[in-house]
Amino acid sequence: KERDKPLTIHEFERIAQTKLTQQVWNYYVSGADEQMAIKRNRDAYDKLVLRPRVFRDVSQIDTTTVLFGKKFDFPVGVSPSAMQKLVGGEGEVDVARAVASRGTFMILSSNSTSPLEDVINAAGPNPDTADFWFQIYVSQDRGKSAKLIKRAEAENSVAQLLTLGPTAAGFKALAVTVDTPVLGNRINERKTQLVLPSNLTLPNLDDPDPDKANKPSLNRDLLNALNRQEAGRIAEVAKKRGLLNDASLTWHETLPWIRQQTSKMKIVVKGVMTAEDALLAIQNGADAIVVSNHGGRQLDSVASTIEALPEIVDVVKGRVPVLIDGGITRGSDVFKALALGADFCLIGRPALWGLAYDGVEGVKMVLDVLERELSRTMALMGARNVGEIEKSMLGVEKRDGF
Ligand code: FNR
Repeated sequence: KERDKPLTIHEFERIAQTKLTQQVWNYYVSGADEQMAIKRNRDAYDKLVLRPRVFRDVSQIDTTTVLFGKKFDFPVGVSPSAMQKLVGGEGEVDVARAVASRGTFMILSSNSTSPLEDVINAAGPNPDTADFWFQIYVSQDRGKSAKLIKRAEAENSVAQLLTLGPTAAGFKALAVTVDTPVLGNRINERKTQLVLPSNLTLPNLDDPDPDKANKPSLNRDLLNALNRQEAGRIAEVAKKRGLLNDASLTWHETLPWIRQQTSKMKIVVKGVMTAEDALLAIQNGADAIVVSNHGGRQLDSVASTIEALPEIVDVVKGRVPVLIDGGITRGSDVFKALALGADFCLIGRPALWGLAYDGVEGVKMVLDVLERELSRTMALMGARNVGEIEKSMLGVEKRDGF
């Protein structure tokens, strides 16, 4: 019924909780350790107040934004989150259909439950929609990572040409996640262990060798060991398959190596929280930066991303786009991030809440809510387009002794 439709992201979240199993809910909602970072990501937005400018003819509001030369309808995309089929339906493929229909883009996790080829093709035969990005963790087995990068940048296969015409280009950018040399300590997940159901696999990581297709997936074993935090088992399985994230990665070695693996894709560094690292990312060839603390799932007691954003924007000086994720649940949050210099925002969990609510339609609804909230906020703030959103439009709450 119309009146029962969720109208805010928080309402989607509450409904999602009733639809997901306890294990899956805990996996999605978890932060690391004492969950301070995840809470701070949200609370920091509330501490910023808006300073509206009025009487400015806001009869036309334009939320479009250009990123890497491509115009998007509004500056909110979807962050990579692993194993979206745990929600049901077609997981990542459903998210792809939703973002394509809403004129924005997604970053596909390398730990996705859909093959990356299915996701890039899900958007349909429209070259405009092939602007998705692919996320990777560089593994200890560089050969494996190199193969995955090639798969992500692949040109049209013959099959694609026959069915779709020359449209299914590879991913536009590679998002390299740099905040996960080891896995964060997620207490909730350890208490209610997530076990990947037997019908799901991680097809980007699985060996495409057809002889192995019917054998039990070692990746599933790895994943389950990871979720149970069984150190011995993790090391054993991962070593066999060269899947363990490499804890020895460095700016000057790893980023140039990635650059050598792909001439077509842009390289985006995801997980930067300091000015120092933003500079190193640029010096070592990053084409964009995502300010992210992994949705509070890695290091706890870290700053919120919106607090970290200004120092990063200051040193980047517009040389590369700066994106941000973490705790964004309202159009006004998007407005605040843009006011502090972000070029684009990404949502992680809110997309999962939409997926849980109603598959493709649910994700579209979540994006619609954020777009409408942003557009209304811009009108009430006197900003006709994203270029008019300025730092001077923000203040800091001064409840006591103002
Ligand atoms: C993530 N995130 C993530 N990041 C990444 O680079 N690769 C991945 O596979 C995953 N997987 C993943 C799973 C789940 C369940 C969550 C919630 C998150 C982090 C993600 O990209 C993003 O940084 C945060 O989710 C953003 O914060 P919000 O919007 O969820 O608050």
